[in-house]
Amino acid sequence: MFERHEGAAYPSAPPIVREPMALGGLPIPSRFFLAPLAGYTSLAFRLAVRQCGGLGLVTTDLVNARSIVEKRGRAFELAETCPEDRPMSIQLYGHVASEMRQAARWAVEHGASAVDINMGCPVNKVVKSGGGSALMCQADAAVELVASVVGAVEVPVTVKMRLGWDDETLIAPALARALEGAGVAAVIVHGRTRAQGFRGDVSRAGIRAVVEAVERIPIVGNGDIRTIADAAATFRETGCAAISIGRGALSNPFIFRQLAHWAEHGTPGPEATFEERVDLMARHFHALLERRGERLACLQFRKLIKWYTHSIRPPKALSHRLINLASARLFDVTVAEVRAAGPTSPLPGHFEPKVPVPTGPIDKW
Ligand SMILES: Cc1cc2nc3c(=O)[nH]c(=O)nc-3n(C[C@H](O)[C@H](O)[C@H](O)COP(=O)(O)O)c2cc1C
Repeated sequence: MFERHEGAAYPSAPPIVREPMALGGLPIPSRFFLAPLAGYTSLAFRLAVRQCGGLGLVTTDLVNARSIVEKRGRAFELAETCPEDRPMSIQLYGHVASEMRQAARWAVEHGASAVDINMGCPVNKVVKSGGGSALMCQADAAVELVASVVGAVEVPVTVKMRLGWDDETLIAPALARALEGAGVAAVIVHGRTRAQGFRGDVSRAGIRAVVEAVERIPIVGNGDIRTIADAAATFRETGCAAISIGRGALSNPFIFRQLAHWAEHGTPGPEATFEERVDLMARHFHALLERRGERLACLQFRKLIKWYTHSIRPPKALSHRLINLASARLFDVTVAEVRAAGPTSPLPGHFEPKVPVPTGPIDKW
């Protein structure tokens, strides 16, 4: 049942994680997906993480279908991809079928291997426009909307949802079953309700109910997976076909490679070395720089640096310089100094990502 590894015990990997996976006709290299995180899952991050290994499918931040139809630059930025970023899914939100269809066709023309429809986003901006988790409140209309997108594109269409709006309306199993009938290739389930936001525990029993409700499509379990033990428990307790990891990938972008090693050998393999961690940070920054230019790359990177400095443990003065990053030249100079200095304390394995999420009453989000 348990493998021992450098003093730690790991639950055995379920056989399904070694089986090939496909969404519709699209082969997916592993059953470990990167979940969309608006503001973080940029092309630069996806490329940097992919190079660490083990990754299955990636999904973009959510993109407003109407903004694509109206050709807004920000939407195009969010949906940006390239041939090395495959297989990838562009996530759309909206509730107007004609816009969703048009945006989905645009996504496919611009490289998407799959299209994901957001039915989980709890924030007001998205919900008030009738998209995100609001779609779960009008199940028939939501199924019709999804069916029309399925009919508009040749690539697999998936849906990402929560368990329901609140504890009284746990509609995910019935909705997933209806969406299967409408032709979706998979459903990704974050095991919380909209009312929960990001609070409380993920309900694996809730995800299991969705797995049991569908006939053949894969259900992807999501929520609070940070470690091999969390991944094993999600597979075991839900019966899901794959898992998707969001916040845990920010603090540990090597988690996919560790999961892939666990799937094959029963252990996560060696921890990422200091050099690998620094290389990943540098790749991520340079990919941002290439795409966003110096000012935006520095600004965006400041938001991400805390996870890298926590993982790399550079001397305080160098961390401080990275946190207040002022130029690309300074980044390169600082990274050279970080390499020369080495870590100031033992490198952490797993640590809590602490991603800021909205708090307070959910109707104010
Ligand atoms: C900052 C942030 C941004 C998110 N953005 C999206 C998004 O754009 N689309 C989406 O479907 N879910 C989004 N989510 C939800 C995540 O994909 C995921 O369902 C949730 O965080 C639970 O998984 P995790 O514990 O692995 O992060 C977001 C979550 C966070 C914390």
